Amino acid sequence: MIVVLDRSASTPLAVQVADGLRTAALDGRLRTGDRVPATRVLARELGVSRTVTAAAYDQLVAEGWLGARHGSGTFVLASPSPGGGHATPARADVPPAPAPVPAGTDLRPGAPCLEVLDPASWRRAWRRAGDLPPPGRPEYAGVPGFRAAVAEHLLRPRGLVRADVIATAGATAGLAELVALLTRRLGRPLRAGLEDPGYRRAAGVFRAAGAEVTPLAVDADGLVVETLPPGLDLVYTTPAHQYPLGGRLPVARRAALVDRARAAGAWVVEDDYDGELRYDVAPLPVLAALGPDVVVHLGTAGKIATPGLGVGWLVAPPDLGADLLAQRRATGTRPAPAGQQVFAAWAHDGGLGRHLARLRRELAVRRTLVVGAVRAAGHTVLGDRAGAHLVVPLASAAAERTVVAAAGERGVLVDGLAAHHLDAPAVHGVLVGWAAPTRAELATALDRLRGVLAEVGVGPA
Ligand SMILES: Cc1ncc(COP(=O)(O)O)c(C=O)c1O
Repeated sequence: MIVVLDRSASTPLAVQVADGLRTAALDGRLRTGDRVPATRVLARELGVSRTVTAAAYDQLVAEGWLGARHGSGTFVLASPSPGGGHATPARADVPPAPAPVPAGTDLRPGAPCLEVLDPASWRRAWRRAGDLPPPGRPEYAGVPGFRAAVAEHLLRPRGLVRADVIATAGATAGLAELVALLTRRLGRPLRAGLEDPGYRRAAGVFRAAGAEVTPLAVDADGLVVETLPPGLDLVYTTPAHQYPLGGRLPVARRAALVDRARAAGAWVVEDDYDGELRYDVAPLPVLAALGPDVVVHLGTAGKIATPGLGVGWLVAPPDLGADLLAQRRATGTRPAPAGQQVFAAWAHDGGLGRHLARLRRELAVRRTLVVGAVRAAGHTVLGDRAGAHLVVPLASAAAERTVVAAAGERGVLVDGLAAHHLDAPAVHGVLVGWAAPTRAELATALDRLRGVLAEVGVGPA
């Protein structure tokens, strides 16, 4: 019973009925869209005259809580949204609140290009995944169909054949598992070399595991392998598109890195976060193909599809892979299978292949737009041959801060290189990504960014 009357109270019955219904809408027992009983029905239930319930409804309609739909009854128009807060009565004469103004067009790297994701194919993948019988026991290495799809559609085309894929919850999550495993194996903090500037979440993973982090030099071609210090247990690198500077590690440096790791008994972690994307340049061999005995390869669906699936993958030297699975079994942990099932269904259906083709075409067009805008402002670009972001080098930290702030004031979010350094920033500039916004939003944002860049000094070549 939504309304309880107190016949001994001095409050008129019609007011008590209105109060009861209003309270029910406020505390969630009645929700927007619920139909309330007809006045006659409620009057019978409460044992009052219909004049009482009709007066209560009239009052609530006047306040905006209830509304009548011709021929179909009376409905709740306002109730608090889930999660609390007070409802604002919806009044016919009060215009609806404006949609929130977006904080800006986000050109910071990292987000995928959802504009080219075909909703029909995506929905089909989810439906097909739902048709699969659920596994009765945990699959510690991941869903078999997912592992096969990654090996066939993503790794084989990159030259990594017959890879034994282990599912992860994403590249960074895979890194965290690996770092925990290696730290336990060594029985002491890991000595890890990380590119500087580099991916700050990777640094976060190593630091959280108590590792000793050594910054490693990078240049426009990526990790400077010749200057690697001795004594490292592990080198973490992003050879396909050095994050954030964008270099593609040349073959000679790749081979030298694998040789040095072998000689030193060290591991190399190859974070291939956006390795599926390159423009007008020949493919380079993945490190894991050159050194399958020392390299752990990490991949993610977060850049080519969406981080919302929560899936990634890892290919490790066999002993490490076996230890990782043993660690999962011992602790009962493994990545959730649902996203893997969707990804597998999507790949099986041909959706992944079609999406990758569309994504590459779209991102190539967008890259040309970004390069054009930056050059039109008199600046150079760095790292635009792969991935979905580039760097605009700037002369100083002050110039970098000015561009980030001025772009922000014009509704364009860009990231500065300062935040990606382990040591004091050695290079300055802004990162401009092109995947996240729609093409139309990107074009508008680039117009504004061009204006901002044209006003600041040009950086070092
Ligand atoms: C270098 C690098 N690795 C990994 C990731 C994230 O991958 P995931 O979301 O799968 O952890 C990113 C995201 O921006 C990245 O830049």
